[in-house]
Amino acid sequence: MTSSIIASQINKKNDSVLGLATGSTPVGTYRNLVEQYRNGQIDFSHITTVNLDEYCGLEPKHPQSYRFFMDENLLKHVNINAEKIHFPTKNENFDTKIQKIGGIDLQLLGIGHNGHIGFNEPDTVFYNNTRVVKLAPSTINANSRFFDDVANVPKTAITMGMSTIMAARKIVLIAGADKTEIINKLSEDIVSPQFPASILHYHPDCTVILSLE
Ligand code: GLP
Repeated sequence: MTSSIIASQINKKNDSVLGLATGSTPVGTYRNLVEQYRNGQIDFSHITTVNLDEYCGLEPKHPQSYRFFMDENLLKHVNINAEKIHFPTKNENFDTKIQKIGGIDLQLLGIGHNGHIGFNEPDTVFYNNTRVVKLAPSTINANSRFFDDVANVPKTAITMGMSTIMAARKIVLIAGADKTEIINKLSEDIVSPQFPASILHYHPDCTVILSLE
């Protein structure tokens, strides 16, 4: 379902700017998109991608970096122009860059068990831009499953801010069955900086998909 939403965005506007996310949840979505590309149903040649977040201190070739994840799961399998792939870095203003390329048409999001989006942890500020953040101990713990040792999980990351995400024209948040509790909480009518994803109640075009497979 998520891949069809992204595919129809690509087919509606062949030079769309797609905001992409990492994590276990979008792996199937990216697999479906690669399949649709191979079947000639979608074309990435004019597509631009901007990623939601990245760990600080990991080289793009590091197997746990989000750049590596994106290459392995999607980017190296499709006909995207390498110059149109963007990740947040400490050395430039990512928000200005996003504005220059026309803004995000569709932003894909996951959600943390603690309600984070990107790496905007609880007690966030609702109007921040892309910046370096300290990761919450619970996030370090949750993400340690991808590392040999919890000590090797970076303690900081660079993430799109709440304003960056909210400026996307369309948002699709996807979550697996393990996130049922936090998605139930999201369905309640509470908007609080303690629960970063709750800001999405104010977005005019946000779809939340809970996959119970
Ligand atoms: C990380 C990422 C988030 C992502 C979250 C959920 O913390 N920074 O952007 O949404 O994980 O990941 P998963 O889908 O593996 O549960």
